Amino acid sequence: MRIPLLDLSEQYLALSDGIRAATDEVLASQRFIIGQKLAEFEKATAQYCSVPYAIGVSSGTDALLAVLMALEIGPGDAVITTAYSFFATGGCIARVGATPVFIDIDPDTYNISPTALKSYIDEHCHRVEGKLLNENRQTICALVPVHLFGLCCEMIEIRHVAREHNLLLIEDAAQAIGADCPLDGGSAKAGTMGDAGCFSFYPSKNLGAAGDAGMVVCQNEQFANRMRMCRQHGMEAHYQHQFIGGNFRLDELQAAILKVKLPYLDGWSAARREAAKFYTNEFRRVGLDEKIKLPVEPYGESGLRNHHIYHQYVIRSPRRDELREHLTEREIETAVYYPLALHEQPCFEYLGYKPGDFPEAESAARESLALPIYPEISREAQQYVVKCVAEFFE
Ligand SMILES: Cc1ncc(COP(=O)(O)O)c(C=O)c1O
Repeated sequence: MRIPLLDLSEQYLALSDGIRAATDEVLASQRFIIGQKLAEFEKATAQYCSVPYAIGVSSGTDALLAVLMALEIGPGDAVITTAYSFFATGGCIARVGATPVFIDIDPDTYNISPTALKSYIDEHCHRVEGKLLNENRQTICALVPVHLFGLCCEMIEIRHVAREHNLLLIEDAAQAIGADCPLDGGSAKAGTMGDAGCFSFYPSKNLGAAGDAGMVVCQNEQFANRMRMCRQHGMEAHYQHQFIGGNFRLDELQAAILKVKLPYLDGWSAARREAAKFYTNEFRRVGLDEKIKLPVEPYGESGLRNHHIYHQYVIRSPRRDELREHLTEREIETAVYYPLALHEQPCFEYLGYKPGDFPEAESAARESLALPIYPEISREAQQYVVKCVAEFFE
């Protein structure tokens, strides 16, 4: 039985009439950039996330880049983020000329560890004239937590750190649109708990476009206006550029498709959660939870519906590579997110980190394995995956 990591064909078939009608409308209008469909999708996303502003951009990467540019983060600044994420998180910080400062992760959630974050600030930073400086006299100006695999970071503690040190808080919620996070006695959606939240609609995401697309959400009107300018080269009035931005626009065809898909997002995330539950129960039933580490659900008891949206279902084993090969031979597609921690990337050598600096991120990079998960995955397919994993450990 061939089991792909992700199969979007069933989802498309169910929605193809609506998607075709929406794209036909755009084609008939011949308006492809900054039009009605974008405005509608932005409004729907803002409503979905319960925020006043949503600004469509060209990708999740460009969401991060544009936010950093709009906030005027650049040379002399340092931005704290996790050592374990997709490259874009660190790459965008470096692209604006700032220095990425990596922090180790919590080995259970794969998200940035608030304890490690606080230790870094306590041990390596000091305050000068209201600014938080690191040992290289760079100004720590922002924090970029990443809600990896569809699970929110520990935002109560992270927000506390951001407030205490007056840091901008930019959420990389590329993998977590719709995820709920317990917050100060209530809850909030991923991306809405800081100064800006960044989403990716890369096709494989829980809400995926038919190409590249992204979104920035925020609470502040002035910042929203600045983001709208930033995505058009910092332009305010026609051909008058207030600051340097880029071409970060989300086009009408993508916006039209995403608007058709958005109402289904919660249902898809619920189906992913059900699939995850099935895997976890089955792995436990056959005693594999002793051999592999299963995903955790730290907010499972919170009563929040989307306490985890399982963008990925990630297991861990010190024998990851052999296990992966075993599954590949049985036509089960898997993925490694990510084979290198960010400080291990060759292009970040100049930052001077060494092996062992972030042991948890490094071991996650050696041990984690994402199994096939998508809303329509059959229980039969999942059973086969569990059977093949069990066979490996026999
Ligand atoms: C954590 C994280 N950040 C940023 C991005 C970048 O998004 P995009 O691929 O839409 O540029 C991704 C996408 O994979 C991601 O997973």
